[in-house]
Amino acid sequence: MDKKKNVLDFLKMKKDREKITFLTCYDYPTATFAEKAGLDMLLVGDSLGMVVYGYEGTIPVTMEQMIVHSEAVRRGAPNIFVIGDMPFMSYQESVEKAIYNAGRFYKEAGADAIKLEGGRRVINRIKGIVNAGMVVMGHIGLTPQSSGQLGGFKAQGRTAQTAMELILDAKAIEEAGAFAILLEAIPPEVGKIITERSQIPVLSIGAGIDCDGQLLIVGDMLGLFEAFTPKFVKKYASLSDDITEAFRKYIQDIKEKKFPEEKHTYRMEPGEKEKLEKMVSGM
Ligand code: KIV
Repeated sequence: MDKKKNVLDFLKMKKDREKITFLTCYDYPTATFAEKAGLDMLLVGDSLGMVVYGYEGTIPVTMEQMIVHSEAVRRGAPNIFVIGDMPFMSYQESVEKAIYNAGRFYKEAGADAIKLEGGRRVINRIKGIVNAGMVVMGHIGLTPQSSGQLGGFKAQGRTAQTAMELILDAKAIEEAGAFAILLEAIPPEVGKIITERSQIPVLSIGAGIDCDGQLLIVGDMLGLFEAFTPKFVKKYASLSDDITEAFRKYIQDIKEKKFPEEKHTYRMEPGEKEKLEKMVSGM
């Protein structure tokens, strides 16, 4: 296993045009698989609201939930750079609250960085957290926490004017001291311009091949989350089919008395069965 990468390694990867591999992760076993596979970064995303808890969106997700899942991911992937996602209303209210909650990811979950949504409008939050000594990833484009304002889960930056707004947001995020920017659901042309104009790594989830690295939601790419599949998803497995089929076979085996078999049972020590039978018959 390679040593855990840090912000300098990610800067070098951008400079060397080596792509950064990035996946969301919410639990211990998946984190162990990510570590075995050799991913560079994991995001404990507030997408866990939908993928793990079955909410319709990310709004109900709490700091407590984020901390519990981030801790589990940290334990499963001690050698991967882990980013905790600031949930809705953990940073919107004030700079002080943003710093306090970012600090919780560090102190309670052992995170290496935090991510928060928004461009110029959250710049003082980013500066505050960076000035407190923490590492921040910005997130612009389709920002699920403000999807109500965006009119739903829709691609962003599809006109010259809205693309310019994203370019200005990215510049402001970099100037505020963020170590990286995540672009979600924007045209690849815009992703390319932002990547070329940024000195810091630019990660993509639906922002095209030219960005410095790629992110997918683990439930989407494994075929575990079926409620909806965004256009940018590539499925690398169909685990929901495999799991459902395994459950069906289990049900059938129980009903047909094919499970448990001899090899799944614990036998008494030699001679103990006979002793027990005598004891029971004398009751
Ligand atoms: O919560 C999350 O997983 C995210 C991605 C959608 C980028 O923020």
